[in-house]
Amino acid sequence: MPIVWTDDLTAVDWDELSALYRIAPLGNKAPADLALVFGNSMFRIFVYDDGHLVGAGRVLADGRDCAYLCDIAVHPDCQGQGLGRQIIERLLARCGSHRKIILYAVPGKEAFYERLGFRRMTTAMAIFEDQTRAHERGYLTAP
Ligand SMILES: CC(C)(COP(=O)(O)OP(=O)(O)OC[C@H]1O[C@@H](n2cnc3c(N)ncnc32)[C@H](O)[C@@H]1OP(=O)(O)O)[C@@H](O)C(=O)NCCC(=O)NCCS
Repeated sequence: MPIVWTDDLTAVDWDELSALYRIAPLGNKAPADLALVFGNSMFRIFVYDDGHLVGAGRVLADGRDCAYLCDIAVHPDCQGQGLGRQIIERLLARCGSHRKIILYAVPGKEAFYERLGFRRMTTAMAIFEDQTRAHERGYLTAP
C-alpha cells in the first residue's frame, strides 16, 4: 500500500499517535492532550504506511505573522527514508503566508532543521512549566 498523507483529525487513533511519540522517541504525550493540541493547531499532518501511523507533525499559527512548528516525529522503522523532510516541507508549504516560522529542536537534532532552511535565533526565549528540568535537558541556558 502506498504512503498516505492526510490532515484528517477524525481518522486519528490518539492512542496510536501517543505510542508513535513514545517510540520515536519524543516523550510521553497523553492521548487526550494530543487530541486537544492537534485540534487547536491550524495545520497538521499524519503519515500512514499500510494503515499504520508512521509520522506526524503540527503547526500552531495565527494566519499571517507567526507559525510554530512542533511535535515532528517519524517511526524508528521509517526514519532515514526522507519522511521527516517531507513532513517539514509539506507543513512549510502550508505556512507560506506567515512572516516567520519558529521551532525549537530536541538537543542534537538541530542539523536536521538546518538542512531544511532553519537558522538559529539569537534572542529566542521561553518559559517552561518546569524550568529546572528544561535546563537539565538542554533547552534553556543556566538560570
Ligand atoms: C528527526 C526526525 C523527525 C527525522 O526524520 P527522518 O525521516 O529520519 O529524516 P529524513 O530521512 O527525512 O532526513 C532528512 C535529512 O535530514 C538529515 N537528518 C535526519 N536526522 C538527522 C539528525 N538527527 N541530525 C542531522 N541530520 C539529520 C538526513 O540525513 C537527511 O539529509 P539529506 O536530505 O541531506 O540527505 C526523526 O529522526 C525522528 O522522529 N526522531 C525522533 C523524534 C524527534 O527528535 N523529532 C524532532 C523533534 S525536534
